[in-house]
Amino acid sequence: MYAIETENLTKKFDSLTAVDHINLKVNEGEIFGLLGPNGAGKTTAISILTTMKKPSSGKAFVNEKNVVDEADSVRKNIGIVFQDFSLDEELTAYENLDMHAAMYGIPREKRKERIEEVIEIVELKDRLHDLVKTFSGGMRRRLEIARGILHMPKVLFLDEPTIGLDPQTRKHIWEYIKSLQKKNKTTIILTTHYMDEADEMCGRIAIMDYGKIIAVDTSENLKNSLGGDVIILESENNEELEKELSKLKWVEKTELRNGRIYLQVKVGEKRIPQIMKCAKEREIEIESVNLHKPTLDDVFLHYTGRRIREETASGKESMRIRRKAWGRK
Ligand SMILES: Nc1ncnc2c1ncn2[C@@H]1O[C@H](COP(=O)(O)OP(=O)(O)OP(=O)(O)O)[C@@H](O)[C@H]1O
Ligand SMILES: [Mg+2]
Repeated sequence: MYAIETENLTKKFDSLTAVDHINLKVNEGEIFGLLGPNGAGKTTAISILTTMKKPSSGKAFVNEKNVVDEADSVRKNIGIVFQDFSLDEELTAYENLDMHAAMYGIPREKRKERIEEVIEIVELKDRLHDLVKTFSGGMRRRLEIARGILHMPKVLFLDEPTIGLDPQTRKHIWEYIKSLQKKNKTTIILTTHYMDEADEMCGRIAIMDYGKIIAVDTSENLKNSLGGDVIILESENNEELEKELSKLKWVEKTELRNGRIYLQVKVGEKRIPQIMKCAKEREIEIESVNLHKPTLDDVFLHYTGRRIREETASGKESMRIRRKAWGRK
């Protein structure tokens, strides 16, 4: 049984195809990441899986329930943390949680107990009766996560769980999410355009671009699919050294570019001593050595020919946050 399964799931907005024939299978208890730049279609995909939007074509199942025909029963089994802020600022943390618990039909006598449990998990116990408008961004996010898990969903959707937060708070939130998955075997689907977040948190990652899933695997396999590490060398005699190194059988590819030698090898750190030895035997002095392990950004570049532009992402992100701040005034 899959926690999530989609068959050619597609969503069109007029001429724009925001989600384009995606086929996903997510196992129970997995932390599964949707990684992609702004506008890739991550939120739209999540909106369909959480029954907030209807697909234009294709099918989607959450815990084997069809998101269109059995929307009510899908809703009962999922928790959502939206990309945009969605708490009531004029209420206290307790009131926000209590309202949500009531909506999910948790009986009054159980609610208090359950709220105390989740508030403990996100370490906001001492702020439980404070108004949300007095909370920092990180505290609000933690409260939203607490609300998302209040009714013990089998599948938890987190849309950009750490957007706009400082590095320390982000790491903290990663820890909560991982512990949730361990303790309760909750299936977690998260979207992000932060590569370090996908790398750190997710068992498997689907890379999304222009509505399409272009690769799905563990971060390690995705990186290994690029063929290995790159060692970058500078020496006093690049031409000769490159020629000699290209004869070594473990060197998969060599290239001379911008006064540097680029070598593609497996497990680069083990090869550096051998490279030094080869150069020494030929009395060529090496001036610098740099080992580059493939990153998810390299994976994205490999499959799309472009880089995920963190600058663009955070630029848009801060615009969105500013807009929201204005909106609230
Ligand atoms: N209601 C809508 N009407 C028209 N177009 C839409 C609508 N919602 C989303 N889109 C478009 O669909 C595409 C995918 O948007 P979506 O919000 O799913 O991207 P995303 O991957 O979540 O991006 P981000 O990282 O910025 O959150 C974008 O081109 C967006 O402009
Ligand atoms: Mg989004």
